[in-house]
Amino acid sequence: MRKKLIVANWKMNFTVPEALKYLAAFRREMQVGYPECEIVICPPFTTLFAFDEAIEGTPLKLGAQNMHWEETGAFTGEISPQFLKDLNVNYVLLGHSERRHIFGETDIMVNKKLSMALQQKLNPIVCVGETDAEHKEGKTFEVVERQIKKALDGQMRSDLENLSWAYEPVWAIGTGKNATPEQAQEVSQWMRRLIAKIFDTPTSEKMRILYGGSVSDEKARGFLDQPDIDGLLVGGASLDPKKFAGIILATETTQ
Ligand code: 13P
Repeated sequence: MRKKLIVANWKMNFTVPEALKYLAAFRREMQVGYPECEIVICPPFTTLFAFDEAIEGTPLKLGAQNMHWEETGAFTGEISPQFLKDLNVNYVLLGHSERRHIFGETDIMVNKKLSMALQQKLNPIVCVGETDAEHKEGKTFEVVERQIKKALDGQMRSDLENLSWAYEPVWAIGTGKNATPEQAQEVSQWMRRLIAKIFDTPTSEKMRILYGGSVSDEKARGFLDQPDIDGLLVGGASLDPKKFAGIILATETTQ
C-alpha cells in the first residue's frame, strides 16, 4: 500500500516572516489531527533554514524546489544536494515545468539531477507533463514517455526505491483548468505500466505518482480516489493554510 503524499510547492512566494505566519495558521487548521499521509512543504531556498526549525514537533517534512547535479564547484547561484541535506531537506522537486519551460532545463539536466538526488538519498519527485499545444495535438503519451525514459536512462533499479513522479499537465498549472480525475488516472496508470516495462512491476508498484495542476481543496478527493494517483503536488492552493489543510484532510476519506 503506497502512503499518500501531499506536497506544497510554494514557488517564488513567502519571505521568512510570511512563512512563519503561514505555519502558525496552518497548525491551527490542523488541530483536528494529522491524517496518515506524508506532508511535504517546498518553500523557497531562502526560507528552508528557518522553516526547518519552525516545523520541529510537527509531522511536516521539508522539500526543495530544485537542485544542481554536482556536489560542489564553480556554479554561481546554484544549490548543491549537500546544502539541502545540511538543512534537513528530505525531498526535492526535479524538472518542474517552470524549470523546463522558463529556465530551459532539458531532459539531460533532469537526468543528471535525478542521478545525484538518488545517490545522495534525497527523495526526488520528477515532474512530467505536456504543454497545451502538445495536449491539443494528442502528444501527451509521447511527451511523457520521452521525459520518463530520459530521466531514467542509466539509473540503477536498486536506487529507485524513493523516487516519486508528478504528472503535471502544463496547461493545468496555475490556470484553474484541471485535468479530470479520469484523465489524470489514465496517464498515471499508463506511466506505471511504462515504468513496469522499463524495470519491472514490483518497482513500478512501489513508486508514487502525484497529480498537479490547479488542485483545490474541493477537487482534491476526486484525484485521490483514483487507484494510480498517490498524492498531489499543489501550487496556488498550498499558499492558503486553510485550503492546504483541506487538501490534506481529503486524504482521510479516500480509498
Ligand atoms: P497550481 O496548483 O498553482 O496549478 O500549480 C501546480 C504546480 O505547478 C505545482 O508544482
